[in-house]
Amino acid sequence: MVLSSQNGTASLKFLIYGKTGWIGGLLGSLCSNHGIAFEYGQGRLENRAQIEADITRVRPSHVFNAAGVTGRPNVDWCETHKVETIRANVVGTLTLADVCRERSILLINYATGCIFEYDEKHPLGSGIGFKEEDTPNFIGSFYSKTKAMVEDLLKNYDNVCTLRVRMPISSDLNNPRNFISKISRYEKVVDIPNSMTILDELLPISIEMAKRNLRGIWNFTNPGVVSHNEILQMYKDYIDPNFTWRNFTLEEQAKVIVAPRSNNELDASKLSAEFPEMLSIKESLIKYVFEPNKKA
Ligand SMILES: NC(=O)c1ccc[n+]([C@@H]2O[C@H](COP(=O)([O-])OP(=O)(O)OC[C@H]3O[C@@H](n4cnc5c(N)ncnc54)[C@H](OP(=O)(O)O)[C@@H]3O)[C@@H](O)[C@H]2O)c1
Repeated sequence: MVLSSQNGTASLKFLIYGKTGWIGGLLGSLCSNHGIAFEYGQGRLENRAQIEADITRVRPSHVFNAAGVTGRPNVDWCETHKVETIRANVVGTLTLADVCRERSILLINYATGCIFEYDEKHPLGSGIGFKEEDTPNFIGSFYSKTKAMVEDLLKNYDNVCTLRVRMPISSDLNNPRNFISKISRYEKVVDIPNSMTILDELLPISIEMAKRNLRGIWNFTNPGVVSHNEILQMYKDYIDPNFTWRNFTLEEQAKVIVAPRSNNELDASKLSAEFPEMLSIKESLIKYVFEPNKKA
């Protein structure tokens, strides 16, 4: 999207947490490219004095939180590092929100939509997605459990904009964090339709949301769902005609992971109403990821 010049960019100064992270890094590049002043936070989220010092130094118009633990090599790490997960994702996120509130600063918080799973009222394939006001029904992993708790507590902070990111994808197919890179390298993959976030399209939208001072919870995914196999077929069509993959069932997947994973559709109509130009997940995948990477 083209970022609006409404309010200009001169009055903006962003303080961004997550300098060394994937989303935080992309956000900084985006600000640089659009001439938006920003600095990265130096403090640890859970250290109130350090966060206060960052805000006093930077005097931000908005704070962006792209920091948190996601686990390496994957979220299973959180199952065996529960205190570290709580420290960053619960104590840290709440501390940042609380300090921002004291200073009347809007916090744009990159959260997760992996706090839902398909259920009887939102069955797979039905097109009925979870809405912003729905209560999380997936706490199968410790990571998701802490994220759901924090989302609930943050509802009490009127200075917070919670963005439910899911299975983020960027045009950088070499990045091992990219959902496409992940599934194209797995030995076997499940095949389930899911809501996903195309970062190249949606990160600029999050900056626009800051400019519009939007608050509350937002399903931060492109409209519609796409399955693993549909993405891998696009990968084969656009990137590597010799690419092959193998599927396995959820039951077989359960044997090679520690914690269950969330699969769901989020209802993106609230975000779509605010940004009507937002593309459906499949259109966005082609425009922002596969076309630019297409091999001749
Ligand atoms: N990637 C995904 O699949 C995904 C999906 C949905 C939502 N999200 C959410 O989006 C956010 C960013 O994700 P990401 O993929 O960009 O993560 P990432 O690449 O793992 O980066 C995490 C960043 O957080 C920083 N960090 C961790 N603990 C911190 C703490 N206590 N204080 C300050 N900084 C801390 C890390 O810095 P250090 O290296 O200095 O620790 C790093 O810069 C996370 O909250 C994540 O839960 C991610």
